[in-house]
Amino acid sequence: MSLNCKDLLGLEHLDKKDLQLILESVKPFKSLFTRSVKKTPTLIGKTVVTLFYEPSTRTRTSFEIAAKRLSADVVNISVGASSVVKGESLIDTGKTLEAMKADYVIIRHSLSGAPEILARNLNASIINAGDGFHEHPTQGLLDLYTMYEKKKKIEGLNVLLVGDILHSRVAKSNIWALTKMGANVAVAGPPTLIPPKIESLGVKVYYDLDEAVKRADVVNILRIQLERQQENLFPSVREYVELYQLTKERLGNAKPNVLVMHPGPMNRGIEISSAVADSSNAVINEQVTNGIAVRMAVLYLLKPSKTANKKQAALN
Ligand code: CP
Repeated sequence: MSLNCKDLLGLEHLDKKDLQLILESVKPFKSLFTRSVKKTPTLIGKTVVTLFYEPSTRTRTSFEIAAKRLSADVVNISVGASSVVKGESLIDTGKTLEAMKADYVIIRHSLSGAPEILARNLNASIINAGDGFHEHPTQGLLDLYTMYEKKKKIEGLNVLLVGDILHSRVAKSNIWALTKMGANVAVAGPPTLIPPKIESLGVKVYYDLDEAVKRADVVNILRIQLERQQENLFPSVREYVELYQLTKERLGNAKPNVLVMHPGPMNRGIEISSAVADSSNAVINEQVTNGIAVRMAVLYLLKPSKTANKKQAALN
């Protein structure tokens, strides 16, 4: 079984069957993690390149570990030390990687749509590792898998996303995946950080976090992008903390077994208190572990382009 696509650009265009296939494929890869030999020969002879134009700890590292556990050769491009600083275009950089026979290019870029530009121009499989405010599909998938693993279902689950929904690519990918899988999705945050007409995606909007947490089975807290505070999208960090920080007191209004998630990196003491981040409800480190297995599943399931297959056949 494989996904019927060469690239993973977002979750908006995957259907429920694709999402189910990915969820079902993760567990066998995760089961490798407790073995002394954690590798499979699945991608032996393949080359995976990570091309990150923005900083990352979790996504870049876990893609590297995932690809290595599948026995691929992995090359990490540090954009600051590459020819990008000399003005090389995105497409020329991509074509250079393809000329070196990269089979997969994993890209993070501040520009929404940058992965799609590469996907249209290269035969290699392109995986979006976060583009602008658009999507972060593998984060959405690892969030989905963690919910499924812990709650044993997605359909009917009440999932609350809290914070800067407007600028969050993680929120967008969560919303696409969760609504397709039948979860009841709600968002909570200051009105200036909630996209207009988000209800049209089947999402309920709360401005009062105390009210919103009561029904939640899962609370996924998003990072407050402090760099955007210059845009005056909320009056002050102090006021945000007062109204929207997930504290132990607020968590006391939620169901006792509510799952607390955060994609990272966390601003402890801003969107989430340390007591909540380190509480038994939090599964933040498990999200990171699941990220490796989910990314192994994605690399395994993507279908190389027909042209790539023909080239491979000709070489054989
Ligand atoms: N969640 C996430 O994308 O983290 P990084 O920025 O560390 O990759």
